[in-house]
Amino acid sequence: MVTARLPQDEIDQAVEALRAGEVVAFPTETVYGLGADASNPDAVRKIFELKGRPATHPLIVHIDHPRALERWALNVPPTAAALAEKFWPGPLTLVLRRAPAVDLAITGGQDTVAVRVPGHPVAQQLLRAFGSGIAAPSANRYGRISPTRPEHVRDEFGAEVQIVLDGGDCKIGLESTIVSCVDTVPRILRPGALTLTQLRTVVPELQAGPDSGAPRVPGSDAKHYAPRTSLSIVPSRTLEEVVAQLTEHREKIAVLAMRTPRVANKYLTWINAGRRADVYGRELYVNLRTLDKSGAKEILVEEVPAGEAWDAVRDRLHRAASAENVVSGDPDIAALRADLGQD
Ligand code: TXA
Ligand code: MG
Repeated sequence: MVTARLPQDEIDQAVEALRAGEVVAFPTETVYGLGADASNPDAVRKIFELKGRPATHPLIVHIDHPRALERWALNVPPTAAALAEKFWPGPLTLVLRRAPAVDLAITGGQDTVAVRVPGHPVAQQLLRAFGSGIAAPSANRYGRISPTRPEHVRDEFGAEVQIVLDGGDCKIGLESTIVSCVDTVPRILRPGALTLTQLRTVVPELQAGPDSGAPRVPGSDAKHYAPRTSLSIVPSRTLEEVVAQLTEHREKIAVLAMRTPRVANKYLTWINAGRRADVYGRELYVNLRTLDKSGAKEILVEEVPAGEAWDAVRDRLHRAASAENVVSGDPDIAALRADLGQD
């Protein structure tokens, strides 16, 4: 359930904390953010400390309205203005030239800044009451799964984050689409709920994916969005076969699929996340958390369909499955993965 608005005294308390240089967690329509006063470099540094995030990984500045953009960005090109006009408030982040007012602590030393106007009513309440920009990454420790419910933030940070505004479950559940508008050709740096087709209705020349010289997006790090349990992506047709082989040794296996299992198996935790990309995306992080806690030795994820509706989900799954997270010490699993071309 999405809470519409919070009582003003809760918002006032959060604003006071922000003004005092404290960090506050708040809901957005994508994921929960860990916010600090974007004009206060010391407060911004607290975010990096709390998350354990490298200082070179830039944060998004959240503002309440596109008209606040000029304080944070310079020479906003017409493409960015058009995207802002059409999709803000909403799950879109624009990367623009940094205005002098933006502290380098936010941008990780870069000359560009990421800005977003979130649509969640509680985020809007907070930003309006605060009256300035709030720098915020997703409210999770570095490399872990983004929070889509207030309890995820409380579980992760406990007393270290005193204020967690409760805006219910996030409607989208995956991080915003990031579009860089700093080069001649605008590009999607991170896929999200807004698809290339939707964005191209406004900016037809928009390209998918960063070019090789583009600034690094920390979300593209191998460990990002990762559960602790090792995770593999498996084609639908081999799912039961892989499960059978892995559970032969009575080891528990967890599966995230788009259908029900064809064979019953008592060592199996199976989530059927369905075939709708928006619903699958909204539940993805909750489902990965559940499977991560199931005590399984391995999480298998049924490969999701081709097509842009699944771009954001596919991107997060591939990151969760990448690098050290899939390098299992178990020779059986390693061999199996090699067989399946999953190594
Ligand atoms: O939906 C979202 O975007 C959420 C909510 C809280 O707004 N925020 C979020 O923040 O996902 P975070 O820090 O987890 O991811 C922000 C992404 C990072 O991948 C970062 O590299 C990228 O934005 N970013 C920030 N500034 C950038 C810049 N100047 N150039 C390129 N990428 C940038
Ligand atoms: Mg994040």
